[in-house]
Amino acid sequence: MRQPFKLSWNTVEKLAERYTTPFLVLSLDQVEYNYRFLQQHLPGVNVFYAMKSNPEPQLINKLAELGSSFDVASDGEIYALSEMGIAPERMVYANPVKTARGLTAAKEVGVRQFTFDSASEIDKIADFIPGATVLLRIRIDNTASLVDLNKKFGADAGEAIGLLRRAKERGLDAAGLCFHVGSQNTSSEAYLNALSVSRHIFDSAALEGMQLRILDIGGGFPIPTGDLNVDMQAMLEQIQRPLAKFFPNTEIWAEPGRFISGTTMNLVTRVIGTQVRSGNQWYFLDEGLYGTFSGILFDHWEYELETSKSKKGPEIEATFAGPSCDSLDVVARNRKTVSLEMDEVVLVPNCGAYSSASSTTFNGFAKAEVLIWEEVQQKLQKDMMAVS
Ligand SMILES: Cc1ncc(COP(=O)(O)O)c(C=O)c1O
Repeated sequence: MRQPFKLSWNTVEKLAERYTTPFLVLSLDQVEYNYRFLQQHLPGVNVFYAMKSNPEPQLINKLAELGSSFDVASDGEIYALSEMGIAPERMVYANPVKTARGLTAAKEVGVRQFTFDSASEIDKIADFIPGATVLLRIRIDNTASLVDLNKKFGADAGEAIGLLRRAKERGLDAAGLCFHVGSQNTSSEAYLNALSVSRHIFDSAALEGMQLRILDIGGGFPIPTGDLNVDMQAMLEQIQRPLAKFFPNTEIWAEPGRFISGTTMNLVTRVIGTQVRSGNQWYFLDEGLYGTFSGILFDHWEYELETSKSKKGPEIEATFAGPSCDSLDVVARNRKTVSLEMDEVVLVPNCGAYSSASSTTFNGFAKAEVLIWEEVQQKLQKDMMAVS
């Protein structure tokens, strides 16, 4: 796997002269690379990109162009995709607990693929969308993921047949199973366990006369940052082999979010304040926890903060804080850094997933502007030609 998208320092400095910080730079080439990498190493798998990880329209458009389908979680996501011209057949409404607004949107737009994990959800779906195709989400315990989704979602394997039967009785097309092993998984182990549980349920359902035909292996594939010590190709191949062997006549779906979006964005932020408090160095940045760094709270993510390599000098430990008036708004504590000056820029790579997606305008700060790398590059080249 190639090194993820990262702006050079020369470019960071040029961009910081041209655009007001904080800003994000999105690489559509990296979007394409990540999507194709999954397709290459999970051949035949139908990818439903989990747009909650990054709903940036240009990223969505790129994936749509490449043939991706989409995992949606709400009415807002359904309408957004529909307005972009994405057909409802390319959406799965994969939030196990759906709102009336969400189901109304699904009905209006024509979405007919859903996941569920309880009897109450079966009734809701059957009332809104008679005959809809449904996948039962099963719980897969996995403490190794960064974000464990299985404490909140998923039916016990022991309940699976009863729930599938009930869905069928309510006139739904009980087509298969889905699971999510938790987010940022760095090994194939949880997937292999989930495949074995799923095979068992497929077999039990067949004995009951229910031929399941779809298996959705969810998301959870890790953000392949440069220092992640995982061979992604090997990990995906370890999942692909049992899929091919044990689910030969089954449609396989996946719902990757962070793997596709995580490495596609870089943030450029700036030091707007420096203070020494009780002997500790503090740097205030113009982006914080209520902005792109929201992933610290929502995604348990620790962001790299890179400073210009041209700066030499002894390292100190510093606290980096965001610009809001909230004391919670701290980005990193005891972070090793060379000492920084006012206005100095800081580069944050690999911040494309669960970052800008959950940023707010708290305190009236605007969300960081998103620049498209391929467009910005052209502008920089024109600038250079104009100078020479
Ligand atoms: C139902 C569902 N599918 C897919 C995803 C995407 O997961 P990831 O970003 O770990 O690939 C999530 C994340 O919360 C999810 O809830």
